Amino acid sequence: MNKSLINLRLAYLRKVNHMTQEELADVIGTSFQTISKWETGVTMPDISVLPILSDFFNVSVDQLLGLKPLADEEYISDGTDTRGFWDNHLEYLIRTRNGTWNADYMRFLVRDVWKINRPVRVLDCGCGFGYIAALLMPCLPKGSTYTGIDFSSSMTKEASVYLKKHGVNGTVINGDFITFEPKDKYDMVICKSVLRHLGDSEPFIRKMIECADKNALIVCADSNRELECCGLYIDGLNYGYLCDHEGAIKHWQTEIDNGKRDYAAAMRSAYVMRRLGLSDVDVRMNDRVSFIYPEQADYDEKISDFLAHKESWYDDTDKAIERLINHGMSPMEAEKFVYKSSEICEYVRSRKGEVALTQFKGETITYGWNRSNG
Ligand SMILES: C[S@@+](CC[C@H](N)C(=O)[O-])C[C@H]1O[C@@H](n2cnc3c(N)ncnc32)[C@H](O)[C@@H]1O
Repeated sequence: MNKSLINLRLAYLRKVNHMTQEELADVIGTSFQTISKWETGVTMPDISVLPILSDFFNVSVDQLLGLKPLADEEYISDGTDTRGFWDNHLEYLIRTRNGTWNADYMRFLVRDVWKINRPVRVLDCGCGFGYIAALLMPCLPKGSTYTGIDFSSSMTKEASVYLKKHGVNGTVINGDFITFEPKDKYDMVICKSVLRHLGDSEPFIRKMIECADKNALIVCADSNRELECCGLYIDGLNYGYLCDHEGAIKHWQTEIDNGKRDYAAAMRSAYVMRRLGLSDVDVRMNDRVSFIYPEQADYDEKISDFLAHKESWYDDTDKAIERLINHGMSPMEAEKFVYKSSEICEYVRSRKGEVALTQFKGETITYGWNRSNG
């Protein structure tokens, strides 16, 4: 067994049972120094002691070793697949959208890859505040129409304002896309940054296809968290250190296992599309790489957005560590992960005005055509 997968829950179990290390040592017939070494990971209990400990605390050996959650600390979802979460994350979404697409690349996709040369009816599923509308609609032939749907009312309220501000003549619907009953079929059905927040993207993509007219184009754009984690370079910081996200896989896997977020939804969309019968499925990559450096006119804003994004998850370090442990990381991995985020923020904040950084989000754009359905 990979030793880093083991997260001995001895200290936790001893504390919730209100025992001192000495008391536990007496039960096991060892010294409190040995208990301390087990709890801090200096040594591991002998295999013959594990059943004694698990019997005593009335947990399975898997639970004792941290391979399965304890009954009283079941996984707590972040709720990114719920309306409530997004109602409270409008500001976060606005700040994280800045600079995530090059307008010329969207034009290239529309004209040269998808070859859209007649007006189309667009449906944007999980439209948020309408970011994609402002980016996509100016690239489409005159006469194209836009409909966005989102179940968060703060998002749809903002989307109506945002569309007007960007001269997009469109409709925004507040409702759950999964139960949406469209009056019309659409020629282009798109979703961006929705799938990785769901446990299973298949029902969502199936619904997109149901809303699509014959020969409609279906597009799913989403970033892959593994790529995103290695996509940050900060001048002056060790790149190996920046790329080290030990334990993150366990955290992401825990979310999948619990039917919540799929960190690799972006990589899987093409397979889902093929399974659901779409034709000519292909995958492109968002070509945007943010290079932020002091001479830029909007440098301060870009640095603030970068910090706001990181800090929104890790500002309360104790809570962040607790959340990551609950999501499958060992205490050591969680601490390392959270402290690294704080260190990065501190490094950037304290050098504002001189620090440069490069960020690549690893967003794939997966698409296919609905040739068979009417
Ligand atoms: C990360 S945001 C992306 C928003 C937008 N597409 C963008 O890229 O800026 C995900 C959005 O999907 C919406 N969403 C998720 N599941 C949904 C569903 N079943 N019906 C409607 N909206 C949904 C959320 O409310 C949220 O606004």
